[in-house]
Amino acid sequence: MERFRITGPTRLVGSVTVAGAKNAALPALAATLLAEQPVVLDNLPQVQDIRTMTRLLEHLGVSARKAETGLELEPAQRPAETVAPYELVKTMRASVLVLGPSLARWGRARVSLPGGCAIGVRPIDQHLAGLEALGAEVRLEHGDVTARAERLRGARFRFAIPTVTGTENLLMAACLADGVTRLTNCAREPEIVDLAKLLQAMGASIEGAGTETITIEGRPALGGARHAVTGDRIEAGTYLIGAAISGGEVLVQGARPGDLTALLEVLRESGAEVEAGSEGVRVRGRGELRCPDVATAPYPGFPTDLQAQFMALATQSDRTTTIHESVFENRFQHAAELNRMGARIRIEGSRARVEGRSRLLGANVMATDLRASAGLVLAALCAHGDTVIDRIYHLDRGYERMESKLQQLGARVERTA
Ligand code: EPZ
Repeated sequence: MERFRITGPTRLVGSVTVAGAKNAALPALAATLLAEQPVVLDNLPQVQDIRTMTRLLEHLGVSARKAETGLELEPAQRPAETVAPYELVKTMRASVLVLGPSLARWGRARVSLPGGCAIGVRPIDQHLAGLEALGAEVRLEHGDVTARAERLRGARFRFAIPTVTGTENLLMAACLADGVTRLTNCAREPEIVDLAKLLQAMGASIEGAGTETITIEGRPALGGARHAVTGDRIEAGTYLIGAAISGGEVLVQGARPGDLTALLEVLRESGAEVEAGSEGVRVRGRGELRCPDVATAPYPGFPTDLQAQFMALATQSDRTTTIHESVFENRFQHAAELNRMGARIRIEGSRARVEGRSRLLGANVMATDLRASAGLVLAALCAHGDTVIDRIYHLDRGYERMESKLQQLGARVERTA
């Protein structure tokens, strides 16, 4: 089991380039199931989840081969296997993204029902209700979700809650439905806008991606396309918070300021200097920190995927900060690990009260999920002494070459077996 050894305190200074967004690459890969010609995807991040999704697509009959800069995916020309097996789904919930496209393309799909995970129950009831609205017959059989439909029919569907992958699943399914589909109360994340761009390049007719109402006019078939996935705003945000927590100065090249407005506002309010330009975003920490209270929310609110990283920052603030996690019901597991480093965080239901001015000391800690691990890395940068972070396979799911990017910024970090 690999681990990180990080020696602090260290100031992060320098520039890194943002990788392609994991959460844009995953739906883009699933969308290739809809195509009747090859699709080339560029700027895919070299992270575990992308390798897992590619394996799942190959299992479903897609052939994937390296193109000069990205990956060329040629979908099956007849219904190959349409079952996403448990051993793959249990390692990556985003496997559920093959449900909509498989159903739309082949009239049937079977996906092992994703179980809960570290951050919450994470049901997919909205995905299934939406597919039923499009005319699918959905069943739960022996732990698998099965869906069947001769031909999906355009329909109106309102999400009970904004769901990112739910919106993506329905958006993809509706592209091949017969007639017009109008989805309301949609999630508005930039990764959804990016998926719509790919689908439009494949011939889909989509209006309103990125707003709460998306209208799709179904097409009989979708063709091939070439698409470079957008940059990873959560990776970018993680390094920008790293600059603030370490009193350093980091330029994240390729970061899109428009995707990070909630974070940049919080960093400015915390006292960091923020410069947003065409080449990316630069943050300069200036020693004193005074973090505002933060509540996570669906985009364009403060991202839940940056909550753990912000919590690490708040331990250095010169006031007590309240963090309200409103998206997931159990996303504070990193608090106990931070407390082992000397933080003073008290969890009260969906709120965390983070005492400021905590002198963090290096310790042995354990990662529990992808973003919690990133929060521990940031805390280790400003802790005194060595921190060993166990189970960093969580990090490898979503952060490309994290230790080398941190070393590039001056961090003392090594990966050890
Ligand atoms: C996506 O997960 C991201 N994953 C998550 O990133 C991210 O944390 C999350 O959106 C919120 O921004 C990918 O895009 C692959 P949701 P998703 O459906 O789509 C409830 C990371 O670290 N809900 O928007 O699964 C759900 O329980 C990961 O990269 C239902 O009740 O999240 C949650 O409370 C972690 N019924 C809320 O909605 C449903 O049918 C938002 O979840 C679907 C969701």
